Amino acid sequence: MMQNWTDGYLADIDYTYGYNGEMNPQRLALAFAQAGVVMPNVGTACELGFGQGLSTNIHAAASTVSWYGTDFNPAQASFARELAQSAGHQAQLFDQSFKEFCSRDDLPEFDFIALHGIWSWVSAENRTILVDFFRRKLKVGGVLYISYNTLPGWSAFAPIRQLMTEHALSMGSSGAGVVERINGALDFVDRVFSVDPLHLRVNPTANDRLTIVKNQNRHYLAHEYFNADWHPMYFSELAQLLNSAKLDFASSANLLDLVDAINLSEPQQKLLSSIPDLQLRQTVRDFVVNQQFRRDYWVKGLRRLSGLEQLEAFRSLKLVLTTRREDVKLQSATALGRINLHEPIYAPVLDVLADNRPHGFEEIEQKVASRGVTTAQLRDAVVVLAGIGALEVAGKDADHPHTRKACAGLNARLFDKARSSSEINFVASPVIAGGIALARFHQMFVQSLQRGHKKPEEWAQETWRVLAAQGQTLVKDGKSLASADENLAELTEMAKSFAEKLLPVLKALQIA
Ligand SMILES: C[S@@+](CC[C@H](N)C(=O)[O-])C[C@H]1O[C@@H](n2cnc3c(N)ncnc32)[C@H](O)[C@@H]1O
Repeated sequence: MMQNWTDGYLADIDYTYGYNGEMNPQRLALAFAQAGVVMPNVGTACELGFGQGLSTNIHAAASTVSWYGTDFNPAQASFARELAQSAGHQAQLFDQSFKEFCSRDDLPEFDFIALHGIWSWVSAENRTILVDFFRRKLKVGGVLYISYNTLPGWSAFAPIRQLMTEHALSMGSSGAGVVERINGALDFVDRVFSVDPLHLRVNPTANDRLTIVKNQNRHYLAHEYFNADWHPMYFSELAQLLNSAKLDFASSANLLDLVDAINLSEPQQKLLSSIPDLQLRQTVRDFVVNQQFRRDYWVKGLRRLSGLEQLEAFRSLKLVLTTRREDVKLQSATALGRINLHEPIYAPVLDVLADNRPHGFEEIEQKVASRGVTTAQLRDAVVVLAGIGALEVAGKDADHPHTRKACAGLNARLFDKARSSSEINFVASPVIAGGIALARFHQMFVQSLQRGHKKPEEWAQETWRVLAAQGQTLVKDGKSLASADENLAELTEMAKSFAEKLLPVLKALQIA
């Protein structure tokens, strides 16, 4: 169904319920400390194209930042508003197009503007509107978070995406529905590949990517590949556009990118540090790591911290371990392959953080010093731990009555949704001013606990009642569990393990 408000954007299939920690203003503090850049206090923030609105809702509930946002898909905006109402926070959420929203004359200036998964998928006209909005509405010193598909990482697969969309447009009957059209396009590419095309021989990796694509969620694929617009860009192309809005590149928002030693070989580091021009250096870096997707922070008027100020920026941070200490895998997948993180540095840091409570950087610094960890090593270690999803910056508003109440209200609504769907896998924590991944059954166990059931056996029974009422069963080792007893036994085992392992972490994060 073609709808006239969509601007070529694919709107007849709902977007997934993603959460992006890069849009947590609290997270900026760590990235900016590591990059050695002055960061603003964030009081007002805006998300453009918020999808289902999970990130904005979580950030608005878990902090006192005043959020605005828009997404022109009315079903998604309606869901986002429903969450806002459950949380009782004051985020202003609209279903306006960028054109409408950006020309409003009643918006404040923002300390932080964020857009994830937007830039590469909208028209040139929309990109002009967005840049103009950054120019007018981002405060001096304010930060932009933007992610986009990057060249050269997409060079080999771009022609395949072209085949898929052309097939969907010309051969896929629009009455067939989006999922059918996507499946038809994927089959078509298979047929093209089967005749040994020269393009594939020259670009054999396109086949690997096609295999990944075939296994991906069709709702995600619809939005990633089947829009009218799909424009991967070189870093330097984006830089030129953003420079015109007075924005300077500050730092990658992918924290793992901020430690060269785990991403680049020594000759690569040497080559990059020999390139004085920032744009060329970033473009070469993208070439070296074959970058496909960049997530970056830009700032209106970049100022560098002195060495002392940078150290003070770290020392002003409080950090929280967001998983069980035993579950932190000292490994990271980077452009260099799978990297083992150095146990003698990381173990002392994790030992201090093991209670999942906020600890000041300085306190950690003093405690790990006696085990031979230097401040420079600690700085890199906390950035990497945050990058692998084990650590967050503690929020300043954790004890604010608003944040506790709003997170509880939002989470209660999300737990309700978990009863019938496994689509939303994030909840809000006031301690980190942001979101934490939590699987469906774990959400249901917390809900049961909050309803006064104390024992894991009771959580399992309540969860099973909800599943059975919907004719749903568990799957174990690829097989559906048929009988009630089998399902209950499996849920009970899950609930016991949850009570022992995850629940203490969720309590420390004020989620349970
Ligand atoms: C790929 S999704 C990303 C959603 C969300 N930021 C996330 O990462 O989960 C792109 C979103 O942008 C919205 N969008 C696309 N073009 C738009 C426009 N011109 N005005 C407002 N929203 C738009 C779509 O409705 C969709 O929800």
